[in-house]
Amino acid sequence: MNRTGAGTLTAQDIDTEVRLAGWVQRRRDLGGLVFLDLRDRSGLVQVVVRPDERPDLAELLEPVRGEWVVAVEGRVVARESVNPDLPTGQIEVIASSIAILNRARTLPFQLHGESDASEETRLTYRYLDLRRPELQRNFLLRDRVTLEIRNYFHENGFVDIETPILTLSTPEGARDYLVPSRVHQGSFYALPQSPQIFKQITMMAGFERYIQIARCFRDEDLRADRQPEFTQVDVEMSFVTEEDVFRTIEGLFQRIFPLAGIEPPTPFPRLTWADAMARFGSDRPDLRFGCEIVDLSASLGESGFRGFRQAVADGGVVRGFALPAAAGAGEASRREVEELAEVARRHGAAGVLTLRRTGGEVVFQVKNALTPAEAETAADALGLEEGGLGLVAAGPEGTTAVALGALRVEVARRYGLVPEGAHTFLWITDFPLFQWDEAAGRWFSVNHPFTAPSLADVERLESEPGSVRARAYDVVMDGLELGGGSIRIHDPEQQARVFRVLGIGEEEARRRFGFLLDALAYGAPPHGGLALGLDRMVMLMAGAASLREVIAFPKTTAAKDLMTGAPGTVEEAQLRDLGIAPAARRGDGRSGGN
Ligand code: AMO
Repeated sequence: MNRTGAGTLTAQDIDTEVRLAGWVQRRRDLGGLVFLDLRDRSGLVQVVVRPDERPDLAELLEPVRGEWVVAVEGRVVARESVNPDLPTGQIEVIASSIAILNRARTLPFQLHGESDASEETRLTYRYLDLRRPELQRNFLLRDRVTLEIRNYFHENGFVDIETPILTLSTPEGARDYLVPSRVHQGSFYALPQSPQIFKQITMMAGFERYIQIARCFRDEDLRADRQPEFTQVDVEMSFVTEEDVFRTIEGLFQRIFPLAGIEPPTPFPRLTWADAMARFGSDRPDLRFGCEIVDLSASLGESGFRGFRQAVADGGVVRGFALPAAAGAGEASRREVEELAEVARRHGAAGVLTLRRTGGEVVFQVKNALTPAEAETAADALGLEEGGLGLVAAGPEGTTAVALGALRVEVARRYGLVPEGAHTFLWITDFPLFQWDEAAGRWFSVNHPFTAPSLADVERLESEPGSVRARAYDVVMDGLELGGGSIRIHDPEQQARVFRVLGIGEEEARRRFGFLLDALAYGAPPHGGLALGLDRMVMLMAGAASLREVIAFPKTTAAKDLMTGAPGTVEEAQLRDLGIAPAARRGDGRSGGN
């Protein structure tokens, strides 16, 4: 059917005949006139029927309700009363024929305007929720973003290569989703947590530049910015250094973010991981506001306050930051301060104490614990203004940094410190290569085990693994990690050394990664790359608060798809085929154990 988009009609179309088809957003019967708000993907237009001229059409429309599907033919005319809020508000369509294409049940929730439907109801009826213009806009944006990504990489010589979904486990730090093999009973495929090893192998296969918009699967704790299946813009390049990767990604951002009216200034600033942790208490700092964390250990570590002295004597730190007077936090009530202390405690600190500057005097929360000179020095170091609020915590370095980092984000939210429309991009570099897991009693890769160690640190790989930096980097926007990557190990000897530090014995390394070690030994080029979270990027571009608003069929935080009901049970016959014993039925006395 040759039809026109309802939302595309303008005053220039006056006096033309048009054919429209779409959903009835609203029908109003004013007696002398019947109005239909007709909506399709392009927008909304008002259709008019005059019962005195076309009693047949008026009668046809009588049962029509919201979300019925209709086709309309008619003439575009100028509206008597222009609606300035509607892009098509200058015109309307006088119907000459109407066909009802389908009816709709009474809706489970109101689609347009204010709706108090729960998230659960919306996800159950996702096809209805997706009809809302806000969500339609997000998916049209996502479509343009992926198209531009493909264009950009194609123009820059990247080759789009698909990698398997049914594969072996790739270590990215989450649990795998497993798929049992019918043919090889007792064996399992793993769904990829990322195409990491395959993309490295494409470099060893000589493709030099790889791109894939790849679905990844991770069984991990979910939240607004984490889904069990998500999409990566996965990139790998041969014969590159960090600088080449940075330039490629900055160029991509300059190409795609303008689709959302955001112009990222390049080059992006860089912060080492150690600086980011010290100054912002986070490896994905939000730089849209200040409140930089300041180390006060030197001045307060020998002050009159025992809590501070003790922390520093135990090898810890005293750190803090100041909220500006303009935030209005200087008047924070006792309860508000207690709530902030609670945030700090939730993140592992013992609490947080306040400093205020009022009437030219600095007041520490614990009366008489600091001398006026000590309080003054600390306030100066924090840059505390008259009417501002200083927050200070003490304890072991790691937890104090993280707690202050969390507090910094919390106060920005509470006191509205993030300027409207501001965006910041940055690189975090020099991550540690390993981290020690006390419970497991061994080293783990911070990134994944294929990340190259910094050249300057490589000789300490075995002697001091904790001090070795990685050639790894993350790209961060507005306090969210958008992507991460690294320069990889291309020397099989070095790869074997890293496996050894990780406690992966020779036999296990051969069993799990033998093909990679072999491929490295047959002329692997130096290579590196990165993966971007496509869903997260589109979420920030769309100004959405959750990945659910930019993934068409998302899962809940309990990893359920409420529309289809997945995950679901399967027939016993299917389980038998797979050689998996049917689960013991509830109530038969055998289901309690594990
Ligand atoms: P990483 O694990 O950092 O790196 O993942 C890359 C990016 O993918 C996004 N992401 C997610 N998005 C939504 N839901 C999730 N559960 C989720 N997990 C990750 C994030 C993240 O920055 N193979 C490496 C990349 C490389 O080294 O090249 C990797 O997967 O935006």
